Amino acid sequence: MIKKAVIPAAGFGTRFLPATKAQAKEMLTVVDKPTIQYVIEEAVEAGIEQILIVTGKNKQSIENHFDRSFEIETELLKKGKTAVYDEMVKISNMAEIFYVRQKELNGLGDAIRYAKHFVNDEPFVVLLGDTIVSGKNCCTKELIETYEKYYKAVIGVEEVKKENVHLYGIIDGDKVEDNTYKINSLVEKPSVEEAPSNLAIAGRYLLTPNIFEYLEKIKPGKNGEYQLTDALKLLCDDKGLIAKKYNGKRYDIGNKLGYLITTIELAVKRKDLGDDFKNYLKDFVKNIDNIDI
Ligand code: UTP
Repeated sequence: MIKKAVIPAAGFGTRFLPATKAQAKEMLTVVDKPTIQYVIEEAVEAGIEQILIVTGKNKQSIENHFDRSFEIETELLKKGKTAVYDEMVKISNMAEIFYVRQKELNGLGDAIRYAKHFVNDEPFVVLLGDTIVSGKNCCTKELIETYEKYYKAVIGVEEVKKENVHLYGIIDGDKVEDNTYKINSLVEKPSVEEAPSNLAIAGRYLLTPNIFEYLEKIKPGKNGEYQLTDALKLLCDDKGLIAKKYNGKRYDIGNKLGYLITTIELAVKRKDLGDDFKNYLKDFVKNIDNIDI
């Protein structure tokens, strides 16, 4: 049973400045919830009970969000807004959440190192704090089910357009069953010609505790950052690695266009807002070429 998750959320979010100058990128709101709440809800849906969030400077709002807020709760009760009160209390009871601060921003590989004592020799999942996966199935659950079949570390992958492979880590793998591949190698940001597939590493991982041995072995890459992918390559060569093409769609809120797309698509999917918002969008699109800039 996999009960622990690690959420790296320490990054500066430079692609989203100035919004991220004094606030956490992972706290940017999508419709009415901060991004990281979607991420934690996914982990909880998959049966995760303990979560370590790797934070850093200007990230205090993450801790405040998952804590109780007695002033707000008292006010809501006074006004008889019990449904909202219940929702507020639920947020702080979703899981047992721990925090650790990454001292220097030395990359995702470095951020995961901070989880060594927390995971304590158990397999665990990693969910990037700026990436929402939305779909019929719970992505983290799919990764856990895959692990329980193969007992090897699993990387969540998604298909990307051929012309975009140079933006991602791409896997070279052999299909072992539907949507599941035994990985031969990982290629970081290949050209279209070099890319062995269009399956990209996509923000969700299930790691075995031996990843920490490999994280100790890797050298910093460009910008002095320790790349998780470099440690995964070593793990792949030694112990084997599985890729699971998950069913949902990945939303990266870490860049401005990605954030806009996320907000629109998740708003359209909402039961309470979706229909009204769709009607608005239909009208808006009809006149889109006549909008004054
Ligand atoms: P990104 O690769 O998007 O990096 O991180 P970033 O620094 O946040 O953003 P830019 O490139 O400056 O705009 C993916 C996830 O990994 C976390 C981030 O917080 C984000 O949730 N991360 C990244 C860390 O926790 N530590 C790091 O050293 C780097």
